[in-house]
Amino acid sequence: MPVFKALTITERKQKTPLTLFDFEEPQLGEGEFLVENVAVAQNPVDIKQLDHDVRIPSIPWTNGGDIAGKVYKVGPGVAEEDIKVGDRVISFVSQKTARHGGYQTHSITDITRTVKLPDSYTFEEGSTIPLTFTTAGAGVMHGLKITLPSPGDVLPLKPRGEPLLVWGGSSSVGSYAIQLASLAGFEVIATASKAHHDYVKSLGAQHVFDYHDPNVIEQIRQVSGDKLSLVYDTISVNETAKQCIASITSPTGGLIAIIRPVVDPALSTPTIKIIPTGGLKAFEFPEIGAALFGLLQTLLNRKLLKPNPVKVVDGGLNGVNDGFDLGRKGKISGEKLVYRIADTKF
Ligand SMILES: NC(=O)c1ccc[n+]([C@@H]2O[C@H](COP(=O)([O-])OP(=O)(O)OC[C@H]3O[C@@H](n4cnc5c(N)ncnc54)[C@H](OP(=O)(O)O)[C@@H]3O)[C@@H](O)[C@H]2O)c1
Repeated sequence: MPVFKALTITERKQKTPLTLFDFEEPQLGEGEFLVENVAVAQNPVDIKQLDHDVRIPSIPWTNGGDIAGKVYKVGPGVAEEDIKVGDRVISFVSQKTARHGGYQTHSITDITRTVKLPDSYTFEEGSTIPLTFTTAGAGVMHGLKITLPSPGDVLPLKPRGEPLLVWGGSSSVGSYAIQLASLAGFEVIATASKAHHDYVKSLGAQHVFDYHDPNVIEQIRQVSGDKLSLVYDTISVNETAKQCIASITSPTGGLIAIIRPVVDPALSTPTIKIIPTGGLKAFEFPEIGAALFGLLQTLLNRKLLKPNPVKVVDGGLNGVNDGFDLGRKGKISGEKLVYRIADTKF
């Protein structure tokens, strides 16, 4: 008999460790399928949801956005050419019910949020991709108004001779934003701690600067000539937004995509517009989601996407409480925390 267990939030702003609870095999709605998770990944939002009681509609609840596993059962209206039992998949789950969350043995999802994972990627690698790739892509398309390559294009596209700055290049969102922008032909400039410069260059950034250096803005402006007008601030606090504004060199101004609501919109200037965006734009604007997931499938099939460096946390789902603590202490840097379901003690 399969085990159906979920790491469960049982109190709002719960301070005690989350524990595992049984659930019954869920009913699937039209177009839905159930994935038997092999690996699930952690995102900063998971901790914010728990600690600040955000987007938890009811208790008990199971959160988490990133899953990788095998299709266990398909619901009504799922076409066999889209998905069948046994397919290896990764998905940015919707969290519309607890059973659509990530930190559990099985998660419900649908084809609009899922791609197939080729054998050339491990489940652990695959789990690092869906939520932050979608966020990176939505920021580039919705925030910076860039048309990304189509699945049939020769990649990378021809150089455009135009720079694009990714502030926070070693973050998970930043790593995918760099890859997407360089595939689209931009000359990517990025910021990261010195220890991550080689990694960020391996993703496609041509110039990487240490954001701790007091001269970082000057260095960015120097390599940009008067051409920098597009910036993705993947850290998105007031300080980084101000740094991004100061980096823009184009005399006509530009656009800065941000992904957190904490940035003061009044920082925009008459010519530099701060644009709030985020992963959910891919579902608010289905054409963006379809373009992104289509491109993602192509990149995976052609092994053109580098997943985040994986750090497997001991204990599977039992290790999530420790992983959340590492996130709270700001100790996650240049890697993604991943939990293997098989490591969980049930
Ligand atoms: N709105 C949305 O849809 C959405 C979706 C995903 C994420 N987010 C938010 O976006 C942020 C990034 O998420 P993530 O998953 O990419 O985070 P992450 O991978 O955990 O980010 C960690 C990285 O941030 C870098 N960093 C920290 N402060 C920085 C600064 N001042 N300048 C440049 N880099 C800095 C660190 O770089 P070094 O180690 O090199 O110093 C570290 O590698 C989070 O706040 C998250 O909640 C929003």
